Amino acid sequence: MWLAVLSSNELRKGKPLGVRRLGLDLVFWRDESGKVNALLDNCPHRHAKLSLGKVIDGNIQCPYHGFEFNGSGNVVKIPALGSASEMPKYLKAFPIPVHEDYGIIWIWYGDGNPSDSPRFFNDMRGLTVYSEISEVWGVSLPRAVENQLDVFHLPFVHYNTIGRGGRTLVNGPLVKIIDEYSFIVYPFNEVDRGQRPLRSSQIDASLLRNYLWFIYPNLWENYISEGMRIVAFFAPINATNTKIYVRLYMNVTGIKMIDKILTKLLMPFNAYVLHQDRRVVLTQDNDVKRDKLIHADYPIALYRRMLFKDVELNKLLSASR
Ligand code: FES
Ligand SMILES: [Fe+2]
Repeated sequence: MWLAVLSSNELRKGKPLGVRRLGLDLVFWRDESGKVNALLDNCPHRHAKLSLGKVIDGNIQCPYHGFEFNGSGNVVKIPALGSASEMPKYLKAFPIPVHEDYGIIWIWYGDGNPSDSPRFFNDMRGLTVYSEISEVWGVSLPRAVENQLDVFHLPFVHYNTIGRGGRTLVNGPLVKIIDEYSFIVYPFNEVDRGQRPLRSSQIDASLLRNYLWFIYPNLWENYISEGMRIVAFFAPINATNTKIYVRLYMNVTGIKMIDKILTKLLMPFNAYVLHQDRRVVLTQDNDVKRDKLIHADYPIALYRRMLFKDVELNKLLSASR
């Protein structure tokens, strides 16, 4: 399964980047063409961190004895052997399949075939200009994801921002299942006038414009309007820490430079809203299994169904505790 773990702008050409994701220390670097490579950040010789080394001819050079490895993990140079010797086959670093697109770097985990590209939102319709913020929260991946699938915390957590108006009653929630790994939620909350919440079958979906789209394991989109979206991804560092990336995409003036300035101007508001979430989410226990859900938590339950059957992800995250 592809997992979004880095924003493209975090990885500069010519400089290796050591990061922890899924409890694993990884080193990323770009070769001359800009192509991203990743290995476990652990030299097979005597286990120094490769990320402290250099990028040389598109390969990564270990800082300790100068062994060089390519993106497939093969050793291509051992200075102590001189340039005339053959490279020993038993010395191999551990390669991690990577993919870069939409300004996101994905890694592959688990079985299956990494030949297919990672999925992204196909409703972006030319939206390419964005600004981004990112920060690490001391919470598990599920807690970070579920906060964004939660359609009824808004009047409480965001009472003075995006949740203004006291719409505490939750209709539905209306959910469109795209497939095994993806669904769309159409929030429809109202002021409580003494009415019962509508069932999703009673909701006229054509009236609902705003939606949340989730692609398992960690991509999220909030459709605000044709020219404005928020996209987030949640990169698990280990079982209890997650790096949250939030982007504001805009295409309102049609002039990229101006749209870019607008996204920048609006970013502090997004950060403020995100920190309203952070204040509460950081207090949650990471053990989701003890939660008692209600009807409005349906999108969260759907996510958990995907999560609980993802043996590989759970294995990696629980090993990283
Ligand atoms: S530890 Fe990496 S080259 Fe020796
Ligand atoms: Fe929120």
